[in-house]
Amino acid sequence: MAKKVFFVVALLGLALGARYGLGTPISEELAAQYDLRPVVLPDGRGLPPGEGKVAEGERIYAEKCASCHGARGEGYPFNRLVAEPFPITPDTEPVEYAIGNYWPYATTLYDYIRRAMPFGAPGTLTDEEVYHLVAFLLYMNGIIEADEPINQKTLPQVRMPARELLDVDPETKRRFPWLTLP
Ligand code: HEC
Repeated sequence: MAKKVFFVVALLGLALGARYGLGTPISEELAAQYDLRPVVLPDGRGLPPGEGKVAEGERIYAEKCASCHGARGEGYPFNRLVAEPFPITPDTEPVEYAIGNYWPYATTLYDYIRRAMPFGAPGTLTDEEVYHLVAFLLYMNGIIEADEPINQKTLPQVRMPARELLDVDPETKRRFPWLTLP
């Protein structure tokens, strides 16, 4: 009963709040604390301009990532980023998941790194730096050549070794068509 009364009062409060224009628009300072950039979708929508090179990525990786992911992405203390074997198949013995054997889309890697890494300071990498890092990590996983530039156009064309392993149920696919590629 008490719960019900609370619910009705809360609802009434919300309704009146809307009616009398209560609430404050979000300040620019507060808005700046949220990451409001578009999500990068599997097909590359949302990717910013810029271009990444493997050699540049190697330099940035050594400075900002190696301490947690190992000098060559082998992991320790945190996640392994460079995969063996390529890729994981249903018959593969369990191994440590990593980019080359587990990630279905290269574009997701861009979004993830830009949004979440480096772990202690997410959001501090420039769009260009993220492209460099993605290029380096794809190269280290044996997916692109050392001289392949990574940008808005080329990144969605990269076919990940684990692409076929992504198994999304048909209902989810129907409701969220942008979540997967055909
Ligand atoms: C302070 C330690 C730390 C640093 C520095 C760091 N990471 Fe991470 N990274 C983590 C942790 C912890 C996770 C796991 C996060 C989770 O599962 O929620 C992670 C996860 C990842 C993953 C996902 C791995 C997977 O397959 O699940 C990627 C990719 C990654 N980091 C890339 C980077 C890159 C690129 C940099 C450098 C810009 C970086 N990280 C710097 C700690 C770090």
